[in-house]
Amino acid sequence: MAGENKALWGGRFERSPERFTMEFGASLPVDRKFWREDIQGSIAHARMLGKQGIISMDDVEAIERGLLAIGERIEAGDFVFDINDEDIHMSIESQLTRDIGAAGGRLHTGRSRNDQVACDTHLYAKHLCQALAEKVLELRACLLKVAQDNMGVVMPGYTHLQLAQPVLFSHHMLAYYWMLTRDFKRILAAYDAADVLPLGSAALAGTTYPLDRDYVAQQLGFKEVSKNSLDAVSDRDYLMDLAYACSVCMIHLSRLSEELILWSTSEFRFIRMDDAYSTGSSIMPQKKNPDFAELTRGKTGRVVGDLMGILVVMKSLPLAYNKDMQEDKEGVFDAVETVCDCLHCMTGMVSTMKVNRERMREDAECGFMAATDLADYLVGKGVPFRQAHEIVGELVLKCEKMGRTLQSLSPAELAEHSSYFATDAVKAVDIDAIVARRTTAGGTGHAAVATQLEQAAQQLAADQALAAAL
Ligand code: ARG
Repeated sequence: MAGENKALWGGRFERSPERFTMEFGASLPVDRKFWREDIQGSIAHARMLGKQGIISMDDVEAIERGLLAIGERIEAGDFVFDINDEDIHMSIESQLTRDIGAAGGRLHTGRSRNDQVACDTHLYAKHLCQALAEKVLELRACLLKVAQDNMGVVMPGYTHLQLAQPVLFSHHMLAYYWMLTRDFKRILAAYDAADVLPLGSAALAGTTYPLDRDYVAQQLGFKEVSKNSLDAVSDRDYLMDLAYACSVCMIHLSRLSEELILWSTSEFRFIRMDDAYSTGSSIMPQKKNPDFAELTRGKTGRVVGDLMGILVVMKSLPLAYNKDMQEDKEGVFDAVETVCDCLHCMTGMVSTMKVNRERMREDAECGFMAATDLADYLVGKGVPFRQAHEIVGELVLKCEKMGRTLQSLSPAELAEHSSYFATDAVKAVDIDAIVARRTTAGGTGHAAVATQLEQAAQQLAADQALAAAL
């Protein structure tokens, strides 16, 4: 049959697919993104076929030259993608055969699109992990710098979003730093899962040709070759790992966004977002909206949706390749691109925001956050904790009625309330002293946070070296 729509598997077929099913079944709009990886994989495969004497070295040369020329045309934007080619693999191979003739038809020896698409996706996923790791490192460096630059700034710490105990603003920023450090680890784990060569598994069972898979792995920079051909062509764990890493990272960005939004309200005024990261209103001239933090928070839904997508695609699939798997890429690629953009935006927002240390301090001094420390003071004087709790509770009530803070009480006023209060009691309610007393490793005390800053800087340098070596 000589129809123009004749597909690659044409020999066995009497009728070509309809235009609609052709387009419906195509993955070209998505997988053309990894044309570089497809060419790279094909060159490695061809070289190996030549080395093993499966095809001639003349063919290898012609294939390599032809593929590189196609790469240049794609790069320059003058390669014509035809939807009759289902995917990037068929687009490139059919063009190669048109360009160089019979040698092009030998490229696919000992290979199936099943192990080819797996190989390309593994390679592309490794690149995505690298890009993502870079962006995470940038935000970590930015959070660390903000923490270093604002050392000593005291802010209220919250539980239940109610004033709880004063903390250092640096401590709060570093909390996000460590969350992103775990994100980095998860991205590296996804990279590791992708760092396995599936090529050489053919359609599902391996092949009769004497392939040298280790040679291909080495050419393509894979750490190891897969152990089981059925598993290799149907493994998408690394994509699920990547989508999960993206989702957790987005949840972190979303939580940080929420705090930035809250902190920039007129009620809080803890920070001022830079104009470059704010928008105005078309009707209310006074408005300055934290649109990009909101958008980051909103995009979390989309990334978590992408994770759900890949998980459900894989659920219940029998071994080995199933066409369902063609649905594996779009969502995961979208998740990575979205997180990269959000990380970039967050780095910009955090590095340009203005920190209002006076406002933070003001709120740290109200809300009776010194109450626990004042009770501890009494315990130090021999009062049982339950009784101390009672005494300070009454003091708080009194201050509340008078509209005063614990810090505003004079030693005489304190002594009036309980004879255990001596002149040193004012030290117990001093906001800086309260913070400094939290000396536990990992606590908010100045000394503990100084140690934490050093640990964070060391971890950042170590992770930067790890990322550079990927
Ligand atoms: N376009 C397919 C995909 O992305 C390539 C693999 C097709 N293999 C097959 N036997 N139909 O999954």
